[in-house]
Amino acid sequence: LIKENMADVTELSEDDRAFLASYLPPSAPNTKAQRSEDADSRTKASLPFVTLTYASSLDSMIALAPGARTTLSGPETKSMTHYLRLHHDAILVGAGTAVTDDPGLNCRYPGATLETQPQPVIVDPTCRFDVREDAKVCQLAAEGKGKAPLIICAELPKQVQTVPVHHIKIVKEGAESCSGDRHNSLDWLDILHVLSLEGIDSVMIEGGATVINTLLQLPGVVNAVIITVAPTWLGRGGVNVSPPPKSHEGVSSNAAWLQQTSWRQFGNDVVLCGRLSDRASAS
Ligand SMILES: NC(=O)c1ccc[n+]([C@@H]2O[C@H](COP(=O)([O-])OP(=O)(O)OC[C@H]3O[C@@H](n4cnc5c(N)ncnc54)[C@H](OP(=O)(O)O)[C@@H]3O)[C@@H](O)[C@H]2O)c1
Repeated sequence: LIKENMADVTELSEDDRAFLASYLPPSAPNTKAQRSEDADSRTKASLPFVTLTYASSLDSMIALAPGARTTLSGPETKSMTHYLRLHHDAILVGAGTAVTDDPGLNCRYPGATLETQPQPVIVDPTCRFDVREDAKVCQLAAEGKGKAPLIICAELPKQVQTVPVHHIKIVKEGAESCSGDRHNSLDWLDILHVLSLEGIDSVMIEGGATVINTLLQLPGVVNAVIITVAPTWLGRGGVNVSPPPKSHEGVSSNAAWLQQTSWRQFGNDVVLCGRLSDRASAS
């Protein structure tokens, strides 16, 4: 059992678990054999279940400033995050979060074992996150409290790695990426397909802003959204969650919606769950 630092993460009540239940990944994942049959198709069926989750202020900020570590979640929603981690095969963050926050990306929920730890994944096209011995994710892996990180990149690192880490390079085929026109941009379908081939059936995508704002434009890719709203305003200049505006023939429309929503209070925070959609639910 992963015992150290567990005190700050406690078990959720039965009611809290019931509230989250319908947004969790299905408990009967595809078998590896089924996945390899799907290897060449990029159908939804072969992609992992994707949960997009983050903690936000009332002004839709997720950090005080780029690079400023900001605590938003209270103890109850922190425990919820670790409960969600226990139910996913992988936790994914972008390179920006890895570099600025040095996250541990493990699960400290009571009962978590090394076997049930989620796979930490970092989308880092140019390998700018320095995977050193003292990076928290590596320390936890060395201590047997988490798994060694998997880095999804567009170019492999030039230097020899001195810690256990697995790099997977995605070769771009010149097709326009659905995540924008940045030089290093990898298509999220390719990223998810690679994870699927690694045996990952569910992934909890935790940020940061660039990753969230991109995925909020991809309702066909995201299965569940779980947002912690903390009762605070961070103020202008923070790191903002707000996807690009949408318009069709000059007419603006809402950028994204949540359908099948449920809200519940966890301590002082509110947790909002829903399914991502590009239109409002019919009421
Ligand atoms: N409150 C919360 O729940 C929460 C959670 C996580 C993070 N955060 C905050 O969010 C902030 C970081 O946000 P951020 O926008 O700077 O960073 P980010 O979203 O973590 O990472 C963005 C970077 O990841 C890489 N990336 C992401 N998607 C990619 C794709 N499809 N293809 C190729 N590369 C891709 C790119 O790296 P390159 O630039 O190298 O191309 C991109 O610039 C931090 O302040 C952190 O504290 C808050």
